Amino acid sequence: MLSPPIALPTRRRTTRLAATLAELLLPGDLVILKGDLGAGKTFFTRALARALGVPPSIGITSPTFTLVHEIEAKIPIAHADLYRLNEPGELAELGLRDRRGEGAALVVEWGEPYLDALGGDALVLELAVAPGGSGREARVAGTGPRGKALATALADRSVIEPRP
Ligand SMILES: Nc1ncnc2c1ncn2[C@@H]1O[C@H](COP(=O)(O)OP(=O)(O)OP(=O)(O)O)[C@@H](O)[C@H]1O
Ligand SMILES: [Mg+2]
Repeated sequence: MLSPPIALPTRRRTTRLAATLAELLLPGDLVILKGDLGAGKTFFTRALARALGVPPSIGITSPTFTLVHEIEAKIPIAHADLYRLNEPGELAELGLRDRRGEGAALVVEWGEPYLDALGGDALVLELAVAPGGSGREARVAGTGPRGKALATALADRSVIEPRP
């Protein structure tokens, strides 16, 4: 079940949420990013990568055509966007599931339909344009023990925050 919304009225707040996740993230974790086109999934991934030590000189862009970008960070990140995946069989070729066992964290935009094929036990983070149209809000859920622990920790740490 998704958490109550975490308000992200500014990009800075989104960046801070990503930094909080960076503190919690472990090798092998699966983060599924949900939300409409433009909701902020790639933005969130970029902020997560920066919080994990990736310098601004390394662009963190949408893996739209190659489907996966490998990002060298404090914890290696395999950043995928499965929006253009044509058939589930293609997923195996990307080798994403194995990357978890190899110590990478997977961050997967449009990954929810492939949750089981990615090995399950995910943090699901849903981003949406906030009611009123400016800013965003996030909801989190876990689909297994590790995902649930991440979702709970993230929601708890995001409740009381100073103004942006
Ligand atoms: N809290 C926020 N408030 C306002 N704008 C935000 C916030 N967080 C992110 N944005 C903006 O929202 C846009 C999100 O674009 P982004 O490419 O990250 O979306 P996406 O969800 O990855 O889309 P796609 O499904 O096409 O991959 C960016 O322009 C970013 O600056
Ligand atoms: Mg994107």
